[in-house]
Amino acid sequence: MATVIAAIGGSLLRPEIEERHAWLEGLVSVIRDRVSMDDRIGIVVGGGAPAREGIELARPLIDNEGHLDKIGIAATRLNATIVREALSDAGVSVSGTIPIRVDEAVLLLEERPVVVMGGTTPGHTTDAVAIRFAIASGADRCIIATNVPKVYEEDPRENPEAESHDFLTHDRLQEIVGPAEHSRAGASQIVDPVGVSEANMSKMTLNILDGRDVGLIRSAIVGDEFVGTVVRGA
Ligand code: UTP
Repeated sequence: MATVIAAIGGSLLRPEIEERHAWLEGLVSVIRDRVSMDDRIGIVVGGGAPAREGIELARPLIDNEGHLDKIGIAATRLNATIVREALSDAGVSVSGTIPIRVDEAVLLLEERPVVVMGGTTPGHTTDAVAIRFAIASGADRCIIATNVPKVYEEDPRENPEAESHDFLTHDRLQEIVGPAEHSRAGASQIVDPVGVSEANMSKMTLNILDGRDVGLIRSAIVGDEFVGTVVRGA
């Protein structure tokens, strides 16, 4: 029995591939199985394509990153609603509402084994929300499900030779992602540097993995070994 919070990157929910329904079905099945084993699971869903599209549409008209962030937050809540409804229809005991604050999410997780949410306030991404939720709920670990296999020294799409990491300290991860700042609405990083800094202060273990393979999400929830990057305090 574990408490685990997972940030599910919005790009996983809205990929440009046919198998996206099978992926969502797989996610629902993993969550249903783990709830039957008495795990408690918080899911924080990213904005993906609708966030990017909405922010891009409004950017020439809106000269304030915080206002553009609000468009991204709305997209995360749209995606969270898709995941919540899918779980609910599959008979999973998921909270009836999408909380808009972390303290609200923590209370809901005491009532139901599964809580699904999106973003909260401007100034960070859903990774940071998941890390805050994990810290505030006393979770065993926080999963960051993204669309690259591990944390690399450099973006592997730009440098295919970039070194990857199986284990990192929070300090080392912070060096890789840069200072704890949210510079631009919709800008994507392997993990939000604002969240990394908070995980570091609370020594929250992060499991960063390729969420396109729901088997990896399952392994990380269970606490088994998985292919990805484990981030722990030194
Ligand atoms: P995401 O969490 O999806 O960020 O939020 P991301 O890293 O760009 O995308 P993924 O994880 O690859 O899908 C999308 C945008 O919404 C705003 C930010 O502008 C963010 O870039 N946002 C989100 C907030 O301002 N606050 C939040 O709590 C969440």
